[in-house]
Amino acid sequence: MMETETLPATDEGLARAAGLLRAGALVAFPTETVYGLGGDARDDHAVAAIFAAKGRPSFNPLIVHVPDLAAARRVAVFDARAEAVAAAFWPGPLTLVLPLRAEAGISPLVTAGLATVAVRVPAHPVAQGLLRAFGGPLAAPSANPSGKVSPTRADHVLAGLSGRVAAVVDGGACAVGVESTILGLDGPPALLRPGGVTVEALEAVLGAPLVAGGSEVRPNAPGQLASHYAPGAAVRLGVAAPAAGEVFVGFGACPGAELSLSEAGDLVEAAARLFHILRAADDLAGPGGRIGFAPVPEVGLGRAINDRLRRAAAPRG
Ligand code: TXA
Ligand code: MG
Repeated sequence: MMETETLPATDEGLARAAGLLRAGALVAFPTETVYGLGGDARDDHAVAAIFAAKGRPSFNPLIVHVPDLAAARRVAVFDARAEAVAAAFWPGPLTLVLPLRAEAGISPLVTAGLATVAVRVPAHPVAQGLLRAFGGPLAAPSANPSGKVSPTRADHVLAGLSGRVAAVVDGGACAVGVESTILGLDGPPALLRPGGVTVEALEAVLGAPLVAGGSEVRPNAPGQLASHYAPGAAVRLGVAAPAAGEVFVGFGACPGAELSLSEAGDLVEAAARLFHILRAADDLAGPGGRIGFAPVPEVGLGRAINDRLRRAAAPRG
């Protein structure tokens, strides 16, 4: 267990927090909605550590936090609708799901391998100060253990995550207390999650009703993440020794494996590499090929890794 530092929301505290983030560590910080658990969105290992710290059993996609619209445009593709709602509600409690710019270098763990990205510009001065001190995009889910209530004070963060994150910046109580509204704009405007900005306010700016039936990406819902980044090759799990012609992906000591999720058998490393390895194995296997994965233990991050691998192995129609 690490000792979690409580940092003041001063220039010195934010400089310390930014240094920790640059070193790949995790820092919880206040936004106007709830406290977020931040890590460098371009760093696979930092993003894997977010899932490990929260104890999430699956890799659902995370929100990328940036200081302003110019930074958001470097991460996602903005059309006229996105420009209009951003002008009306940013900075503020609104998250936009937009086409991802691949060249932004966002970790595929942040987007769960999707071609879209959720991006938001928080209004809280401490979040703003941290994003500017850090100088890059921060992936940040709410700073609570999976399945627990979202934290609105630094001591709530510590109650859930003390010893699992490098630091928390104490910026007092969050004003909004519910998460940001998530608006999907990769198709017809869709309310993916109600939150701090109302549907009526969004519809007034868009000049159109939000489409019904939009739902938050929930990895456990059928048809949601199951099909996202499905390899073309046939995937087998729990493989001890590969069949002839099968690309073998190891975990831990696996003599003869062409690729490895982690030769050291480290689950955080395996999570950090997961989407890259899925792609590399698919390329190696080629059309109609086969991939065999060595068993990954069903503990800690291993549960999220196995959840994703089971989706890759599931029959597709
Ligand atoms: O107020 C908030 O939004 C807080 C603060 C910390 O900013 N953050 C937050 O993050 O609530 P999180 O990780 O708890 O929620 C992210 C939500 C997930 O429910 C996920 O389904 C959705 O955003 N999401 C992320 N990327 C998506 C995508 N590409 N498409 C659809 N939904 C996405
Ligand atoms: Mg949450």
